[in-house]
Amino acid sequence: MSGPLFAQEGGWTMPPSSSPLPSPGRRRALAAFVNTAAALVGGGLSALVGAFALRPATASARERWVRAAATSDLKAGVPVARLIVVPLVDGWYRDHARRTVFLVWDGEKSVRALSGTCTHLGCQVGWDGATNTFRCPCHGGVYEADGRVASGPPPRPLDTLAADILDNGDVMVRL
Ligand code: FES
Repeated sequence: MSGPLFAQEGGWTMPPSSSPLPSPGRRRALAAFVNTAAALVGGGLSALVGAFALRPATASARERWVRAAATSDLKAGVPVARLIVVPLVDGWYRDHARRTVFLVWDGEKSVRALSGTCTHLGCQVGWDGATNTFRCPCHGGVYEADGRVASGPPPRPLDTLAADILDNGDVMVRL
């Protein structure tokens, strides 16, 4: 005789064949099934979370090349301000950022792009053609035409952005 014994009035007996308890073999199979299912679900969730955490930076943070002007919009040797609207996408969040960039074209195939954001506290600088300087209206910061600090509180030159001219004359800036 094998299998568990059950107490009953008058002695021990084998469980009835219609016992609600599954046999040990069925219990092991059920446990294996549940464990496997839990491992699959857990593994899938971990993969999803890992893919989300390790994904590349969002589009809003990624550098991108944008068309800032055409050479026909520029004047050789003179900084020209261009307002660039950059779409920001971060998950479900959508917005636009406006950035001013000054393009200085050499009249041929080279262009420099200077950020219009003052390096002191972030105001927008303007080009003063009379003095050939960039001037910040907030605290009097002054920058040379090449972006170096001439006077005032800015701690460093205007940021330089990568820029290029395509064969069709489009001026591209990397933000
Ligand atoms: S923000 Fe430009 S000088 Fe202060």
